[in-house]
Amino acid sequence: MIKDTILDKESIPAHVAIVMDGNGRWAKKRGLPRVAGHNAGMMALKEIVKRSSVLGVKYLTVYAFSTENWKRPEDEVKGIFKLLIIYMQKELEELHANNVKVHILGDYRKLPKDAVDSLEYSLEKTKNNTGLHFNIALNYGGRDEILRSVRKIAGEVAAGAMAPEDITGEILGKYLYTAGMPDPDVIIRTSGEERLSNYLLWQSAYSELVFTDVLWPDFTPEEYERTLAVYQGRKRRYGGV
Ligand code: IPE
Ligand code: IPE
Ligand code: MG
Repeated sequence: MIKDTILDKESIPAHVAIVMDGNGRWAKKRGLPRVAGHNAGMMALKEIVKRSSVLGVKYLTVYAFSTENWKRPEDEVKGIFKLLIIYMQKELEELHANNVKVHILGDYRKLPKDAVDSLEYSLEKTKNNTGLHFNIALNYGGRDEILRSVRKIAGEVAAGAMAPEDITGEILGKYLYTAGMPDPDVIIRTSGEERLSNYLLWQSAYSELVFTDVLWPDFTPEEYERTLAVYQGRKRRYGGV
């Protein structure tokens, strides 16, 4: 647990990204199957989304399934997608009532059809909402996202619509899943691991990184506020003095 620090509610970061890690270890500690950890993780997520809205965070991005997570046993992967459908069914009304707009980052169309349908329904239902932008990273990988952008730009260059010297970071950013969104101010990772695991590689250039040992299912809104307070204590310099 991060030691007590007071959160300044007047300067809440605009974009918070989270690597929700530690579900498996949480379950293992209790002698439960890993999917029980993912289920507990969903419940933690529900509270963090709510608190984000209340605090006035504008963008919340959560890493739910990486392009590398397909390496896991088939029943765990299937279990994660099943839970995702349940989460969407259970939470959509409340998300919508709270004016939350759902976005998916990643090649989610490769998920099982029932999951794709449920995600697309959520996207459609919340598309005109103007509150918290809730980005769920699913079948997401930062390298994959950059490559996808580069391929599209290369296509335009090959078609003669753009010259190589006209390619800027801004143009590359327009083809990322996060097009139009600010970069994350802070990336939080739970469970004590201190790495990005292919998360938001382009967008994290100047993000502050905050790590906590708390396992994701135990990550409460109070711990969330403490991690945000740690972020607020940082000095961001962007290469300046
Ligand atoms: C994060 O928890 C959730 C996903 C990657 C889907 P883990 O499942 O990675 O939990 P640990 O790291 O094994 O404890
Ligand atoms: C990152 O966690 C992906 C998600 C939280 C969805 P992992 O548990 O998959 O990452 P590694 O394998 O420990 O780097
Ligand atoms: Mg993990």
